[in-house]
Amino acid sequence: MPNILKKIGLKGLSHALELAGRSDDFRRKINEFVSEDFFYNEKYYRNLIDSIDPERGDRFFTSLRRKLYSSPYWNYGPARLNKLWSTVFSRVSPYLTDFKSFCEVGCGKHNPVGSSLVMYLNGADDCYFMDMDAMDWPRATEALNDLTAAILRDPPAWLFLPQNQDIFEKRLGELKFYDSIAKQDDSILRHESFHFSNNRVEEAGIPADSVDFLTSQAVLEYFRPFDAVMKVIHDTMSPGAVSYHMIDFRDHRHFRRHMPFGFFHYLTEDLEGRGLIELLEMGVTMNMLRYSEMEKMLRDVGFEILEFTPVERQEVPAEVLGRLKGRYASLPLSDLEILRAWCVIRKPAKP
Ligand SMILES: C[S@@+](CC[C@H](N)C(=O)[O-])C[C@H]1O[C@@H](n2cnc3c(N)ncnc32)[C@H](O)[C@@H]1O
Repeated sequence: MPNILKKIGLKGLSHALELAGRSDDFRRKINEFVSEDFFYNEKYYRNLIDSIDPERGDRFFTSLRRKLYSSPYWNYGPARLNKLWSTVFSRVSPYLTDFKSFCEVGCGKHNPVGSSLVMYLNGADDCYFMDMDAMDWPRATEALNDLTAAILRDPPAWLFLPQNQDIFEKRLGELKFYDSIAKQDDSILRHESFHFSNNRVEEAGIPADSVDFLTSQAVLEYFRPFDAVMKVIHDTMSPGAVSYHMIDFRDHRHFRRHMPFGFFHYLTEDLEGRGLIELLEMGVTMNMLRYSEMEKMLRDVGFEILEFTPVERQEVPAEVLGRLKGRYASLPLSDLEILRAWCVIRKPAKP
């Protein structure tokens, strides 16, 4: 049983089910019950149920997911998306006043259109979004439908560029009658403003110099080679364009199974020179770069770094420090202890 399941246990699942069956004071109770940990547990429950009975698991998961939308930590629902975009705009607003085109790199399979819809309403005429993973369209259209309902319930909460209020209201008015959302199919992808690609960003064919505002959440740590992919992103951005990224340096294997040195595990392994297949066989999907290494590469690619702010640090255990391998041994402690960071970077405007 995964470690995290042990922590909350099946008792937690049955408690959630019990709560999901009641409608009256459901919201209050589920909010008391749901913690940030639950986001991770949800994935394990899903895997667990899928391994028993995929068809039943799917029905169960979807209905539970919809009920959990009141949780601010649910990853694909409107509450999480609104919190995410409020945070992003509070961080980019000193550098970004307006944009006509938007790109989300690594949009994920469950709600791939969500962020692009929000940016379209806020004035983006072109929204590029892509992911190399296979999409889960049934859930994606559900998530889009729920998001639209949430926006229509409280439009001002979704206006992030007040100067674009007229565009926002006009587009929102049209959206009410928009077929794709009402019918829960994927016809939104044929809307002239939405450009989806089921591909890596490197192969998504985004025109050069075309994107004014580009974002990603927990994606940069996968790019390999990092500088080559960032160069492609740099080329797709228009001169002066701004980009926001949340980066997760934690060893991702520890989310799925216990690793002896937890989120720091890869620092203790000798992985330099190993091939991609070998790394994948070891469960390593990340590029394993650290904060200072990414910062240098971003500068070398040609980005101006406007912000690069750690949001989560953890003291590196002494047993890890005694086992640091390869180049990690020469990185400062202040770098190794950073678990997550966000950055705002800019492609310099043409002189
Ligand atoms: C941890 S998930 C984050 C998904 C989503 N951004 C979210 O916050 O829920 C990382 C995603 O990045 C995608 N990804 C990794 N490298 C990519 C690349 N080169 N181009 C496009 N997507 C990529 C993966 O397929 C995966 O869906």
